[in-house]
Amino acid sequence: MNLKISNICCIGAGYVGGPTMAVVAKNCPNLTIEVVDLSKKKINDWNNIDISKIPVFEPGLAEIIKEVRGKNLFFSDKIQESIEKADIIFISVNTPTKQKGVGAGKASDLKYIENCARTVARYSKGHTIVVEKSTIPVRTAEVIKKILESNNAIDNEDKKTFSILSNPEFLAEGSAINDLQNPDRILIGGEENEAKETLAKIYSQWVEPNKIIFTNLWSSELSKLTANAFLAQRISSINSISAVCEITGANIDEVAKAVGTDNRIGNKFLKTGPGFGGSCFKKDLLNLIYLCEHFGLEKVAEYWESVLKINDWQKERIRKLMVEKLFGSITNKKIAVLGFSFKANTNDTRESPSIEIVRSLLEEGANIYINDPKVSEKKITQDLYFEFIKEVDDLNKYFINEGSNYWTYSKDLEIVFKNCDAILILTEWEEYKKIDWGKTYKLMRKPAWVFDTRGVINQEDISKTNFNTWIVGKSILEN
Ligand code: NAD
Ligand code: UGA
Repeated sequence: MNLKISNICCIGAGYVGGPTMAVVAKNCPNLTIEVVDLSKKKINDWNNIDISKIPVFEPGLAEIIKEVRGKNLFFSDKIQESIEKADIIFISVNTPTKQKGVGAGKASDLKYIENCARTVARYSKGHTIVVEKSTIPVRTAEVIKKILESNNAIDNEDKKTFSILSNPEFLAEGSAINDLQNPDRILIGGEENEAKETLAKIYSQWVEPNKIIFTNLWSSELSKLTANAFLAQRISSINSISAVCEITGANIDEVAKAVGTDNRIGNKFLKTGPGFGGSCFKKDLLNLIYLCEHFGLEKVAEYWESVLKINDWQKERIRKLMVEKLFGSITNKKIAVLGFSFKANTNDTRESPSIEIVRSLLEEGANIYINDPKVSEKKITQDLYFEFIKEVDDLNKYFINEGSNYWTYSKDLEIVFKNCDAILILTEWEEYKKIDWGKTYKLMRKPAWVFDTRGVINQEDISKTNFNTWIVGKSILEN
């Protein structure tokens, strides 16, 4: 028997909460879904009549929002009311790395999860299924359960009851809608079969039953961390081999193809680049490393730590190589940076390799011009300087006090390229694949360099020019 479900509340209207609930609403017209958030601004943005202003850019998302918003999907800041009505509550809040105190720099900061649990304990009514959608350390469900049950005991006349499930999200940004609509699997961990089946019934509106996997709570929580650790490990593996290719004359695309055609290895996630970014790989690896250390598994912790070390090393070697190729100094040289998001098709810059690489080039005194089709100048400013300034308005003060290095934002590639010494491609946006290299060469100061960390330039086209090129995982071509 399934529990009856009419109302869903999702706490957290971020990159996961918004798109996930949009897809649930589209596939389950009989359910009423409210996505709530502490940030009134975010909720207003999700409700913006101008659909291009919703806070998450994902291909296909705006169309779904247009279809379901105001029908069975609602964005609201009335958290209490939404929880009171809900039969199921998805917790989809951020779980960043802890900045202070025990476990700082590694452990997950569970304060947002804890706040949610306390709010749910206070306002929920009757029986509620509480679903962990956020990525969390193993055994977090125990914390949630304790908070829900202990609060219940204090002031509850109409006894509330809860079922706790783990249902991690595997979507990747940029392909979120397709990932949600056609998932590889839906993972549901829990102790109570009835609650698990109730949640499965929602997904079964559009997901084949054989893709719904049931586990215990701890397997589900650990599987999410492990999946991200494995994906990150593959990127560090291919990036480590990219450096070997550059020295030996092997070609990384050929190696990746030869290796990836082995069915046991598979061909996905073998694209070399400037190192992985995004809000989760580093955070989830650190979380896993912290857990291993906590349980005394030092060697396991070291193993996963090496994945992060290679990721940092890849960024560092790109910076060093650029300085070396530009005659040992980039002070006052103009460098065009193409791409600031952590990958194409998203406006998200969290942990983007561009942040660290651009910061290090600015430190070397370069004059940087940045272009990105989706990331705003304001966002780049915050990312580059948040360690120094709180508000973007303070930026002028920073420049006056700190001296000469600076950067400029431009949507116009001609302005970005004019008189520049080097182009550095950091994100694989489609528009960068179509650059006219002959025309670009004429705009630049000579010798002109292209450093392509994504392997996206049209090599046939560029080979007809006198560009010097470094393409990650391939030989350097110098004229
Ligand atoms: P996000 O920062 O984009 O959104 C989280 C939202 O939760 C924010 O808007 C914040 O204001 C809100 N929030 C925090 N505490 C709240 C509270 N007590 N009440 C109401 N709202 C609250 O984060 P995200 O990228 O959506 O990630 C959410 C979780 O999903 C994380 O654990 C992350 O690891 C995991 N995840 C993320 C992705 C991804 O692609 N971004 C993919 C899979 C899993
Ligand atoms: C990743 C996972 O792919 C999702 O399954 C997971 O749900 C999500 O993290 C999460 O937990 O947040 P995401 O970070 O959105 O998704 O994007 P990915 O496509 O995984 O890319 C991550 C980084 O790796 C990007 O910087 C990307 O450029 C890089 N990457 C990816 C490579 O350098 N090479 C590849 O072959 C693939």
